[in-house]
Amino acid sequence: MSKVIKVNIKNNPYKIFIGTEILNNIDKFHREYFNDRSKIVIYDKILNNSVYLKQIIKKLGKNTNLIPINSGEKSKSKKSLYDLYNNLFSNNVDRSSVIYAFGGGVIGDLSGFAAATYMRGIDYVQVPTTLLSQIDSSVGGKTAINSSFGKNLIGAFYQPKLVLIDLNTLDSLPKSQMIVGYAEMIKYGLINNKKFFEWLEINGKNVISKNKKSLEKAIYICCKSKADIVKKDEKENGQRALLNLGHTFGHAFERLANFKKFSHGEAISVGIILAFKFSCESKLCKKDDLSRVYNHFNEIKLPCEIGHLFKKNIKAVDIISSMKLDKKTINSAIKLILVKGIGKAFIADKINEKKLSLFLKNNGFF
Ligand SMILES: NC(=O)c1ccc[n+]([C@@H]2O[C@H](COP(=O)([O-])OP(=O)(O)OC[C@H]3O[C@@H](n4cnc5c(N)ncnc54)[C@H](O)[C@@H]3O)[C@@H](O)[C@H]2O)c1
Ligand SMILES: [Zn+2]
Repeated sequence: MSKVIKVNIKNNPYKIFIGTEILNNIDKFHREYFNDRSKIVIYDKILNNSVYLKQIIKKLGKNTNLIPINSGEKSKSKKSLYDLYNNLFSNNVDRSSVIYAFGGGVIGDLSGFAAATYMRGIDYVQVPTTLLSQIDSSVGGKTAINSSFGKNLIGAFYQPKLVLIDLNTLDSLPKSQMIVGYAEMIKYGLINNKKFFEWLEINGKNVISKNKKSLEKAIYICCKSKADIVKKDEKENGQRALLNLGHTFGHAFERLANFKKFSHGEAISVGIILAFKFSCESKLCKKDDLSRVYNHFNEIKLPCEIGHLFKKNIKAVDIISSMKLDKKTINSAIKLILVKGIGKAFIADKINEKKLSLFLKNNGFF
């Protein structure tokens, strides 16, 4: 049994399958969608000896090309990309081949960008193996590598042909990575689905402890929500930006810490709290809603403050400068996703810098 979602993007529609028997049937998916076209599996080295990779090889056949990639954000680099192209050339991969991106967001973003550009584009399938990639990065077609000027600055919108989410791949995922994914999961409830947030208040712990039924329901709701948003705004000219709730603050913190000291999930969970606080102080959102979010974060042990994680004092002015480096910033005007309550996020353009600076100073920065 699996759940199916249609991503109805004009010109590039595709389906997402979610379940526990997905890898076991990967050969059937391949035959149905790609007949006897040759396949290449690009995978995270951490999965080298995993049962999942063995299952894929068994099902897709020994003649499947396998390309391991080092784990971690460093692999979203020009060097890894060019090594990957060379690997594809020497394996005689051509436009009739199909790439399977098997790993977390790093593998999905790198392989997706390679697929978008290799021979001007070949088909690829996302097979995400982290909670974050299963609810976020594998859907929507954003692909990218990093540059020394910033994260994800070199990339393309390039939709996969299929997304195959096997919940069993999360069995080996460490709890810290489950929490990173959970921070992104809450976002879907907070932006436009209060009912989902309420469900998470009750079932969030089961999601983190990998209860399969809860996971399947939650991943389905997130993918459905992302699919709906992407369908309306594929290239992020409008509503897709709502998915950045907490991210303008979060990315600024990550940049100021040189992407060390804390995880992306921790940075954005603090970012989400700040977005709610700023909304409350701007009289847009009720304090009760902030308290409710705060309580849930505490229960799940998501951080609500970040100053102490830097282990040094961070200045409000530096946070604001870092926020301006965000690629979503236009003409230096800071744009934030704010809320009128739980499930009521909106895009606030041209944030008043003085007000923001005062707010940051009142919230633990200098
Ligand atoms: N394209 C998009 O729309 C989009 C959206 C959000 C994030 N991203 C990108 O996604 C990346 C983050 O994704 P991520 O959190 O999946 O990171 P990741 O791919 O680095 O995976 C996190 C860690 O888990 C390990 N891992 C992966 N699968 C595993 C498994 N099944 N069992 C045990 N360990 C496993 C990895 O080796 C890594 O150490 C970032 O580069 C971010 O920019 C992209
Ligand atoms: Zn994120």
